Amino acid sequence: MQQKELLYEGKAKKLYKTDDENLLIAEFKDDLTAFNALKKGFEEGKGALNAKISAKIFKMLEENGIKTHLVEVLDDRRHLVRNLKIIPIEVVVRNIATGSLTKRLGIKDGTVLPFSLVEFYYKDDDLGDPLINDEHALLLELVEHENELEELKRLGREINVIMKNYFAKRGLKLVDFKLEFGKDSEGKIYLADEISPDSCRFWDMETNEKLDKDRFREGLGGVKVAYEEVLKRISEDIK
Ligand code: TMP
Ligand code: ASP
Repeated sequence: MQQKELLYEGKAKKLYKTDDENLLIAEFKDDLTAFNALKKGFEEGKGALNAKISAKIFKMLEENGIKTHLVEVLDDRRHLVRNLKIIPIEVVVRNIATGSLTKRLGIKDGTVLPFSLVEFYYKDDDLGDPLINDEHALLLELVEHENELEELKRLGREINVIMKNYFAKRGLKLVDFKLEFGKDSEGKIYLADEISPDSCRFWDMETNEKLDKDRFREGLGGVKVAYEEVLKRISEDIK
């Protein structure tokens, strides 16, 4: 597989074309950003950690019947992925209230939600990824049909059940996470982007210690150690 020109550079990844128009190469960067890139940082080795963590989770989800964009892990920080048309909606699923939910609605930080909350955010950096509802998504034509919104919610909930259980066995509370999806030329929906401590919140089951990008957002330090801990826990063979 030949890597060709840079197609797109995001905050945490670069996407390259390949000699196959159906495939792209995603390269995980060491950059860290928060608050719509108002806060910027760099953590040597973070990209490689996220590439490993995300690959493990995507493979686990595939084993559980979720279609993902991952085709092959190429090396330490590069994945070969399907070339999809990304749906410009960030699907956030929450099990415990924290972050923007507590600020927006005044729910006490750490409250276990009575059901898993699925939210849509419009993926637009200039607008700061605003929270939207189904009608906004239709108005902006972010999807072709209402059914696709239902499908995104269904996938968000299904992935949440699988991941919550997977991480609980590894001593981690899955607090919340963000998913992105893309469509192939036939309109089939695949899970895309990444699932890592950049895009999820993990709290230690016993101590509630934060093992995710909140360490960077809140300036707590120990970012890399936390990501390494997540990789360690998911690398253990647990039935
Ligand atoms: P929030 O509480 O800031 O809305 O974040 C909810 C979850 O979504 C959290 O796990 C972090 C993740 N997330 C991203 O991956 N990218 C983003 O741009 C935002 C705002 C959140
Ligand atoms: N807002 C994202 C986050 O805090 C990162 C960013 O947009 O720079 O996860």
